[in-house]
Amino acid sequence: MSNDKPKKEPFEGHKKLEKNITLLAAATFVTVAIGGIVEIAPLFWIDNTIEEVEGMRPYTPLEQAGRDIYIREGCYVCHSQMIRPFRDEVERYGHYSLAAESMYDHPFQWGSKRTGPDLARVGGRYSDAWHVQHLIDPRSVVPESIMPPYSFLAETPLEVPDASATLTALRRVGVPYSDIDIEMAKTDLFAQADPDLDAGDLEERYPKTQIRDFDGNPDVVTEMDALIAYLQMLGTLVDVDSVAAQEELAEEKGR
Ligand code: HEC
Repeated sequence: MSNDKPKKEPFEGHKKLEKNITLLAAATFVTVAIGGIVEIAPLFWIDNTIEEVEGMRPYTPLEQAGRDIYIREGCYVCHSQMIRPFRDEVERYGHYSLAAESMYDHPFQWGSKRTGPDLARVGGRYSDAWHVQHLIDPRSVVPESIMPPYSFLAETPLEVPDASATLTALRRVGVPYSDIDIEMAKTDLFAQADPDLDAGDLEERYPKTQIRDFDGNPDVVTEMDALIAYLQMLGTLVDVDSVAAQEELAEEKGR
């Protein structure tokens, strides 16, 4: 009898696996685990998944204060800060956002709702005076605008209870502020917007910092100053054209 038995089928082992649910589950787990390890394990050995880009720096205390006002006023409800790598977006807003450009954002402001335009590269697109007018009364410059007015910002003196504490908190989550940055935070905060104060080495510690009176009222540093300092910085730190050129070169070499 045993001689008549057909030859063992080549997939005998597989049949056993398919008919035994426990064995199948165990084998599935092992297979998926291998894929998982290959993808996930390297993340534990590299310091950062963000490619470093020249020019990116932590925000100045004034920009950071402006950012806090941006969040407090809910600007993110209508504005995103992330240009996606699609042609229509790139033509309208500029070079797509790089991961490094939001590496010091806590919390990030990418957003998913665009009632208004993306603001990731709004810095330098308008004058300070335009921003002041637009924030005081959006419809005076863009008649069809549905953006709410924020005129009170121009009348509210900027108050940051403890600028050093803000930077210290950010340093704890990985923003590389130096001891001097933290020590000087309060001085830096006002020196960036008050032409009568000495800005010292602010620009050396924070390259490309724009130092001027932003709201057109040099007598007092207001929340408007901080918010416009923040807006005018957005997208200006990294020279995206040179980064884009480098990427193209690298791609060409790889070909
Ligand atoms: C209810 C939604 C809404 C909110 C909230 C809002 N905006 Fe807007 N924003 C708009 C719309 C719509 C436009 C386009 C029309 C215009 O320019 O006013 C706009 C335009 C802008 C522009 C011009 C952008 C460009 O490229 O032309 C800036 C800058 C801006 N908003 C900043 C802010 C800031 C800062 C805040 C928070 C203080 C804010 N917005 C809150 C809806 C909003």
